[in-house]
Amino acid sequence: MPDFDRIPRDRLPALLRQMPKAELHIHIEGSLEPELIFRLAERNGVALAYPSVQALREAYAFTDLQSFLDIYYAGASVLLKEADFFDMAWAYFEKAAADNVVHAELFFDPQTHTERGVPIEAVILGLHHACQRAHAEFGITSRLILCFLRHLSEDDAFRTLDAALPYREYFVGVGLDSSERDHPPEKFARVFARCRELGLHVVAHAGEEGPPAYIDSAIDVLKVERIDHGVRCVEDPGLVARLAALRMPLTVCPLSNVKLCVFSSLAAHNLPQLLDAGLVVTINSDDPAYFGGYLNDNFVQTFEALPVLGARHAYTLARNSFEASFVDAPMRADWQRRLDDVFVAAAV
Ligand code: ADE
Ligand code: ZN
Repeated sequence: MPDFDRIPRDRLPALLRQMPKAELHIHIEGSLEPELIFRLAERNGVALAYPSVQALREAYAFTDLQSFLDIYYAGASVLLKEADFFDMAWAYFEKAAADNVVHAELFFDPQTHTERGVPIEAVILGLHHACQRAHAEFGITSRLILCFLRHLSEDDAFRTLDAALPYREYFVGVGLDSSERDHPPEKFARVFARCRELGLHVVAHAGEEGPPAYIDSAIDVLKVERIDHGVRCVEDPGLVARLAALRMPLTVCPLSNVKLCVFSSLAAHNLPQLLDAGLVVTINSDDPAYFGGYLNDNFVQTFEALPVLGARHAYTLARNSFEASFVDAPMRADWQRRLDDVFVAAAV
């Protein structure tokens, strides 16, 4: 175990950037930067509602989750061809490599594209080829997780699953995203049961804007292996104790939470409280092109705003990201050794 007390505080930002880490909560459509949106719009002859990159960026002033989702789905309208999905994911992997991300589990939203007539094959193969190249060029391993949009029906989710099954080898799990309020996990009980029968991993957004009861039902009804966000669990002490006992990972996204007004500022974020409660918390970027930063921006800005967080927390967060990932034990052990080496070297 590294000697955290011997790591000087001024080493912390560099250590946060340098440490190997996994990203487990990134919507790949949320990595689409305005510059790429405009390039793809021109390439595909798609009309945009904004006259310039700057005007689009200026529209990124969100008041809640729905105000963000409206712009996020409009941004994704430029994605039509397999090459577009490849280019989007490749741009993300270049950022991830610079942030010392060694493993990424990417969410994608097929319904956002199939409802515009894009074949699901173009979505999945474009992303898959970017994953392959990221491994070849950067040594980054990755997995794809297909998300169902919870504002749509369960029947629509079943149709999406059926359309995706010919490409089953390319994704490892399913998730649940989009508008959380008034769309409880129970709405998707049958399709998640089917996914579990198929041997898919299952995760769900819960307790981002929705109540703590949605976290309980994601566990009880959907039988999820991770909760995405989950920050509202602190409103129910019994639930916090349950999450700790289960070692149920929470994929927390600090910059996202501030941009979507879940917390008023990073300084007001409850990450220290979640860590103190012994929860398996990880830090993630969610939709980095929209929320002001990629993974290292989330780490560095969160630690800057919350001085109670130190080297021990940084280590725990990176270690949790490996523990919570959907990879085999030898791979996880290898990353954990690399993480230990970085922290041992940082102690003076
Ligand atoms: N889709 C993309 N980002 C999301 C978020 N933060 N919550 C729910 N659905 C999303
Ligand atoms: Zn999310």
